[in-house]
Amino acid sequence: MPKKNPRKPKRDGSRHKIGPEGAVPEGRGATVQLKDGSEVALYNIGGKLHAIENFCPHKGFPLADSRIYGGMVECDLHGYRFDVSTGACVTKSSCSIDAYDVVVEDGWIYIVT
Ligand code: FES
Repeated sequence: MPKKNPRKPKRDGSRHKIGPEGAVPEGRGATVQLKDGSEVALYNIGGKLHAIENFCPHKGFPLADSRIYGGMVECDLHGYRFDVSTGACVTKSSCSIDAYDVVVEDGWIYIVT
């Protein structure tokens, strides 16, 4: 049974200012803590930013620093794979997580939850 994410951002349409464009290097992920203590994993893949929950529902491992390749992140703990665009878990569909819109405007990154 998938674990529940205790730091899952609320779905309320809020727009969170994250940092300057370029804060996440291409091919890397970063943990982003929102003001309410919730977290997202933010990735830069080929210059496009993606945000998903920073939580693997298998055993709760954070995903921001796990290996990324071809638009997927692979949990470093046991290898579950997630599509960073949709949050879909391709290893076990019941472990899919939320993805969030990322907007870059006037040189700043925003995540919409
Ligand atoms: S914690 Fe087991 S695959 Fe992520």
